Amino acid sequence: MDRRKFVSALGQGSLGAMMGLSAMRAWAQAPGHELPVDCSPPAHGAATHITFNTSVPILPRKSVWDLDGKEVTRLQKAYQAMRDLSVSSPSDPRGWMQQANVHCFNCSGGYDPSNVEIHGGWWFLPWHRCYLHVHERILGSLIQDPTFRLAYWDWDTYPNHAIVPPPFMAQGSLWDSFRGAGPSDTIPVGITDPASMQIVMGTQGTAAFMGGDPSQGLSGAIENSPHGPVHIWTGETSPGESPEPPGCFFPNTPGGQPVDQSQNGCLDMGVLATAAQDPVFFAHHSNIDRLWDVWLKTPGSQGYYKDSAWLNHPFNFYDEKGNWIYITVADVLAQQEQNNLRYTYQQPQASAPLMATRATQVRQPKPKAVKPLVVVSTPRTTRVGTKPHVRSIAVPLAHRTNLKLLAAGGARGYELHIDGLTLPPNESAIVSVFVGAPNATRDTAVGPAFVGTFSVVASGSGHKHPTMRNAVFEVRPETAALLAKQKTLHVTLVPKLINGKEPGKSSLTYKKIYLTQR
Ligand code: C2O
Repeated sequence: MDRRKFVSALGQGSLGAMMGLSAMRAWAQAPGHELPVDCSPPAHGAATHITFNTSVPILPRKSVWDLDGKEVTRLQKAYQAMRDLSVSSPSDPRGWMQQANVHCFNCSGGYDPSNVEIHGGWWFLPWHRCYLHVHERILGSLIQDPTFRLAYWDWDTYPNHAIVPPPFMAQGSLWDSFRGAGPSDTIPVGITDPASMQIVMGTQGTAAFMGGDPSQGLSGAIENSPHGPVHIWTGETSPGESPEPPGCFFPNTPGGQPVDQSQNGCLDMGVLATAAQDPVFFAHHSNIDRLWDVWLKTPGSQGYYKDSAWLNHPFNFYDEKGNWIYITVADVLAQQEQNNLRYTYQQPQASAPLMATRATQVRQPKPKAVKPLVVVSTPRTTRVGTKPHVRSIAVPLAHRTNLKLLAAGGARGYELHIDGLTLPPNESAIVSVFVGAPNATRDTAVGPAFVGTFSVVASGSGHKHPTMRNAVFEVRPETAALLAKQKTLHVTLVPKLINGKEPGKSSLTYKKIYLTQR
């Protein structure tokens, strides 16, 4: 039985009757079952530029909660058609597994010789926007409905939207058994709640929000969190806890931690190689994409890159006619998003949209240029470990004077950098970062000392390369005010599992931590 059929049988509750529980576990944990061995696309020739369907109307992508019954049915039908195609014609690039594998082969180069990686930097937002567009067009064409639009999962608007959207919890084409989150699970505080979102959405710098160019290895604030932790949470809400939700085959070591996070049944969304095998992936990314637009209009936001290396970069996909096409980044930005892609994001109807705070423009003396303040820099790597990891350094007066100026508001002048963060490809990480709070713990609330969350979603154990990232966090005025009062700079890295518990292990290392002016 192929995996998907097996899984849908499981979703319908008939599997337990067919097979004993331990046999199911053995099957699901058998190496090689969960991850695609080769997720590269069907053979193709040279790509041609996509033809945008500019004659179809510009229509709203709505919150899943704002869909009416008909629209939910349409969404289910479209995914059902895509799943059916995958069964009847597995090599058709428009089928479900082929669609899911598009994400896999653009991730970490584990399966594709072209070695593409669209995570961890400035390709992240535009690539996923393009992917959503072709995916939406394919779904629409499979049900012969050019007015079909994706729906977004607005985990950030209402507290009761921080759950897997109900239509994705119902049996049918939107359901995925390899998902840990159950109907009563809520995304924990610290990820999508207003205080956390306000910090992320208030990030001003282009690289700090969107991620840096490939030479920087810098993942943007939106990718780090909420993006990563929502993936990890959806895959498995309570790592290491038992009993696992029905349908999960989470292999636990005696210590309660996963042996290999990419080789078990509960984690489609929690591993990049399999994330797009859960339909909720596309609702999650539609929200990330919507928030990119929100950020662009937020006062203080420094907007898109102007580099031609970014703007002219092509991404390849199969379109709804089965043609191998390319879309450039510039094709999907600003007015072109609507003109070419034919959607707008409808505000969540039921809730107040996230309002980013207006940056207070205060006239202030210019801060003096000072050398970066290096907290840690060693030729060897430093292990973060599983407990809060604190490093401290005396702050020279010149920095404190500058921080005091910045505390008054105005342009953001300081950033905290953590460079050379490295993880094996089969491990995920979530690390909350604090400054001026040497006693910060996993329970410390979001406040002036919190600068942000760094995260990595496991690529998949078949992916060859370790994940290497740099992280940057802007120092907000309230954070500068806190730091200006302290003669020692304390940087605290707090690793945690998605359920807030201490990780059983962590291979995360880094090379350098420093505070610098921008
Ligand atoms: Cu391509 Cu949400 O990951």
